[in-house]
Amino acid sequence: MFEKNLKSAKSDHQKLAWLTAYDYPTARLLDESGVDLILVGDSLGMVVLGQKDTVDVTLEEMIHHLKAVRRGVHRAPVGVDLPCGTYHTADEALANSLRLVQAGADAVKLEGCLPDQVSQIRSEGIEVIGHLGMLPQRVREEGGYHKKGKSDLEAQLLLESALKLQDAGCCALVLELVQADVATDISMKLDIPTIGIGSGIGCDGQVLVTSDLVGLQPWFRPAFVKPKADLATPFREAVQEFIKEVRQ
Ligand code: KIV
Repeated sequence: MFEKNLKSAKSDHQKLAWLTAYDYPTARLLDESGVDLILVGDSLGMVVLGQKDTVDVTLEEMIHHLKAVRRGVHRAPVGVDLPCGTYHTADEALANSLRLVQAGADAVKLEGCLPDQVSQIRSEGIEVIGHLGMLPQRVREEGGYHKKGKSDLEAQLLLESALKLQDAGCCALVLELVQADVATDISMKLDIPTIGIGSGIGCDGQVLVTSDLVGLQPWFRPAFVKPKADLATPFREAVQEFIKEVRQ
């Protein structure tokens, strides 16, 4: 059903808007606002747990937050990241995906070109979202967040990987920090929707970390994000007003 909706969105040229949530109130607000998919990203590590990257997030932490999100969502599909180190083999990928589905996920997402893992997860009927381009789970090896697809060779490899993931059964593909023209080209050559983050407007949809969108974490703002609000300011003001009232 979810896969069918994604395919028809692509053929109808209907752009998809995805956002992240890690807790009940955010998930409920996003669901009520009409977002197309709610992603319990492993950005959880940075956004909620105060870690420097996503590498140390555990499956247990993902399950804990997924359950909270699930309670707040009645309409949108809920996707969830398989965190780093939980899908080395196809069997491990399937076993951990089953745990995420049991905890309420409608789809799992994994980073990199891993068609065997994708096919194995699909063999149990679980929807899989791919993720190519900058892979945050590899940020330590890469020494930072770098744009991908700058050379012809890199662009070609990205396209080949995207086609492999589609053939393996992915229902959608996140493209993170991919050169805009390369992301557009991949989007045109795939039947499944591409969901861009920092990859230009040629993708079939966009995903953002919600706190970046609403300006809740002013200490960390990726260059490609144009926040639509500055919630950190009224938040601080409300807290300061409360402190003042209490102390008066
Ligand atoms: O972890 C995450 O939140 C993500 C998206 C931003 C794509 O992978």
